[in-house]
Amino acid sequence: MIDPFGRSVTYLRVSVTDRCDFRCTYCMSEDMTFLPKSDVLSLEELDRLCSAFIAKGVKKLRLTGGEPLVRRNIMTLIKSLGRHMESGALEEMTVTTNGSQLGRLAGELKAAGVERVNVSLDTLDADKFHAITRRGDLGIVKDGLQAAKRAGLAVKINTVALKGVNETEIEDIAKWCGDEGFDLTFIETMPMGEIGKDRSDTYLPLSAVRERLDAIWSLTDIDYRTGGPAKYAQVKETGRRIGFITPLSHNFCESCNRVRLTCTGQLYMCLGQDDDADLRAALRASEDDQVLYAAIDEAISRKPKGHDFIIERGQSAPAVTRHMSVTGG
Ligand code: 5AD
Ligand code: SF4
Repeated sequence: MIDPFGRSVTYLRVSVTDRCDFRCTYCMSEDMTFLPKSDVLSLEELDRLCSAFIAKGVKKLRLTGGEPLVRRNIMTLIKSLGRHMESGALEEMTVTTNGSQLGRLAGELKAAGVERVNVSLDTLDADKFHAITRRGDLGIVKDGLQAAKRAGLAVKINTVALKGVNETEIEDIAKWCGDEGFDLTFIETMPMGEIGKDRSDTYLPLSAVRERLDAIWSLTDIDYRTGGPAKYAQVKETGRRIGFITPLSHNFCESCNRVRLTCTGQLYMCLGQDDDADLRAALRASEDDQVLYAAIDEAISRKPKGHDFIIERGQSAPAVTRHMSVTGG
C-alpha cells in the first residue's frame, strides 16, 4: 500500500475498545460517554479486518484502546492473530496498555507472540498517579510491569510531559527506567478530544524535558528509529536511549507509515485529521475480501500529507474532536 506521497503503509494500529479503566486528565473528561457496545466490531470482525491489512502488506500491528486489555475475551483475538506471526506475514505484534491488566495477562501475551508492550506511566508518585489517571493504582501497574519482565516482554514506558505535574520527575523517571531495563519515550500532549479544560495549562514542550536531562547527563542525538515518530538520544551515563515524540514542536509526518482503525471499523489515515473511511460497511457488505481490499485501497489514496496540531493559550477547542482513546494514539 503506497499513499499519494509515496509513503509505504506497513503499520496498522487498532483500537479494540474505546473504553478504559482509567480517565487520564489529558486524555478523557471525567464523565466520558463511551460507544454503545452494539456499534463495536466483534472480535471475529476485528480479526478479519486485521488479516485483510496483513494480506495487503501490513508488517506491524499494534493493539491499543482505550485500554485494549479490558475488552472481554481480548486474548481470543490476540491468540488468533498470533497465526500471522507464526506464518511470518507479520513481523511484529505489540500492545499499548496502561498496565492495569498486565499482572494477569503478561504471560499469555508473550505466549501469543507479543514481544513488546508500551506502558503509559506519567509519574512514580502514587498520589499523583491517582490524580492523573483519576482511577489508577500505581502499585498494580508496577506489579504488572514486573510480571511483564518475568514473562520476557520488552517494556517501553510512554510518559506524557505535563507542566506542573511531572515536570520535576523527569530525571527520576529516566533513572528508574534505566534501573528496570525499560525503554522510555516522552510525549507532548496533543489537542485531541474535549477534556473539559484548557490543555495549554499543562502543555510542556519536550525541549524543556530535554534541558532537564541535559543538565545532569550527556545526551547525544542518534539516528536510531523504531519505525515510529520518536527521535532518540543516547544517554552516556546510563547507556540507554530516550525517545522524544514532539508532534507540536516538531512535525513528524514525512516518514509516516501508519493508519489507525477504530473499534467501530473507521479507518483514520492521519492522527491529526478528521477524514476517515468506513471499513465496517465494506466488511459487512460482503463476505468476499475483495470488497474490503478495494475500500482499503480507496482509503489509502486519501492519506493526507500531515496534521496541523497547535496548542495555544485561550484556544481550548481541540484540533480534532475525537479522543486519543478512539484511535489509541
Ligand atoms: N496527548 C498525548 N498523549 C496522549 N495519550 C493519551 N491522550 C493523549 C494526548 N491528548 C497517550 C497515553 C498513551 C498513549 C497511547 O497516548 O498516555 O501513552
Ligand atoms: Fe485510558 Fe490511556 Fe486514556 Fe489514560 S491515556 S484514560 S490509560 S486510554
